[in-house]
Amino acid sequence: MFPKWFSEWNAKNPTDIYKPAIIVGVAGSAVFLAALFVSWGQPLATDSMQTGPRGTGMKVAKFELELDKPDPTIEDYYTDEPFIPEEGEELAGDIYENVQVLGDLTDANFNRLMNAMTQWVAPEQGCAYCHSGADDGEYADDDLYTKVVARSMIQMTQNINENWDGHVNAVEVVGVNCYTCHRGENVPSDIWFRIDPVNENTSGWSAVQNRATAQSQFTSLPSDALEQYLLNYETIAVHDLESRVQNEPGDPTWQHTERTFSLMNYFSNSLGRNCVFCHNSRAFYDGAQVTPQWATASLGIQMVQELNNDYLVPLEGVYPPERLGPLHADAPKAACKTCHKGYQRPLQGTNVITDWPELATSGPPVYE
Ligand code: HEC
Ligand code: HEC
Ligand code: HEC
Ligand code: HEC
Repeated sequence: MFPKWFSEWNAKNPTDIYKPAIIVGVAGSAVFLAALFVSWGQPLATDSMQTGPRGTGMKVAKFELELDKPDPTIEDYYTDEPFIPEEGEELAGDIYENVQVLGDLTDANFNRLMNAMTQWVAPEQGCAYCHSGADDGEYADDDLYTKVVARSMIQMTQNINENWDGHVNAVEVVGVNCYTCHRGENVPSDIWFRIDPVNENTSGWSAVQNRATAQSQFTSLPSDALEQYLLNYETIAVHDLESRVQNEPGDPTWQHTERTFSLMNYFSNSLGRNCVFCHNSRAFYDGAQVTPQWATASLGIQMVQELNNDYLVPLEGVYPPERLGPLHADAPKAACKTCHKGYQRPLQGTNVITDWPELATSGPPVYE
């Protein structure tokens, strides 16, 4: 195949071709892979969102693949634009017999909202879920508990949008409607009940700790954090620069610390974000070093306390027994995850309020 002179020369001058071949091979593959990365992009690229001041490393890193993953319930979200009322149109309060909250709506908007509430809360059961006489066109009765609960829910939703604007519209107009919590289910996911003592045979501190429950985020931390902080108005303050050796009266104990950590784990899991989304982890105690999200979260704590105490707990006597808590027969309660469902913003920031002026205020709705 080669000329004779070459074969002769080659036989006289034996050379190790393996080393150069390996070098060429390795270098060639590296160039090839580098070319792939440049042309197709890094398959496991990360992106990060800055949360604190520049240079402090306060950022939340995520794989891009994950960041882009849409919340699957967004696709099923139902909405419908409002009808702008005409001059002198008759209102629901005059047309119907038993309208206590939505009296200022025109008939078209009233029915538009009834239809949407059905899509958001009871798409399978339809109007009959709240109206026993739906088949006979009879809607005035309050005989079903679901209707009585729904009326309170409408008031609660109006209150959230009207008075907790600093939370639910913190970044841009997003707001809250029935779908934010319910997502097409009669009973929203991620509700909670009182479960302390976790074990009836023990009492005291051990009764709430060292048992993996959903409320301890399946850790050995206390299971009563939501109850103490998001229902009972217990103060969240455990961290400062003072020595605790003296243990002055009123000083927080390690139990408070663990309960706080339990709550903070719940926050992180509710939003799918870690601690530095809200804190500068070098100074948890210092309100001057937090991120803007901390302030939004802080309002969120007060909002949840109000939703539970003013709207959800008072419904206890209205629910049938099977809807009440397993240990204390208490009313179902809400917290961060009931709206957020593991995302930084519920429905990833989908605006759910602009189409529903009826749910944005407790007064007469403003259409434009
Ligand atoms: C999730 C519960 C729920 C569902 C589902 C629901 N409604 Fe209602 N409905 C209510 C509540 C609560 C009221 C009372 C509102 C008030 O007091 O302001 C009401 C009142 C009414 C009234 C006024 C009755 C009267 O004479 O006082 C009509 C009409 C009505 N609904 C029709 C419908 C129709 C039609 C559907 C199905 C498309 C429907 N509703 C689905 C909760 C519901
Ligand atoms: C009633 C529903 C609801 C509840 C309950 C709720 N949130 Fe929110 N939260 C929202 C909405 C809606 C937004 C989006 C605001 C926006 O994007 O303008 C939001 C935004 C936030 C943000 C800001 C996110 C950002 O990108 O800046 C933080 C932080 C937050 N919530 C924390 C919490 C915490 C902590 C709790 C529990 C103590 C909580 N939320 C409870 C509805 C809720
Ligand atoms: C902040 C979250 C939240 C919002 C917003 C919300 N709900 Fe609820 N809803 C709950 C919780 C918590 C329960 C109690 C769950 C249970 O019944 O076991 C509930 C229960 C209900 C029930 C009783 C269901 C059953 O089968 O027991 C109805 C009906 C209902 N909601 C209607 C509505 C309507 C209509 C809206 C909008 C106007 C709405 N909800 C908005 C949290 C919410
Ligand atoms: C969504 C925002 C948010 C996230 C995420 C979060 N925190 Fe917090 N954290 C807060 C807020 C708001 C407070 C203050 C509550 C108050 O004072 O009422 C707080 C309070 C604390 C405190 C008590 C501070 C004091 O003054 O004693 C500690 C400790 C703490 N967080 C640790 C953590 C840890 C650890 C994580 C991660 C597992 C975490 N936090 C995640 C918002 C958050």
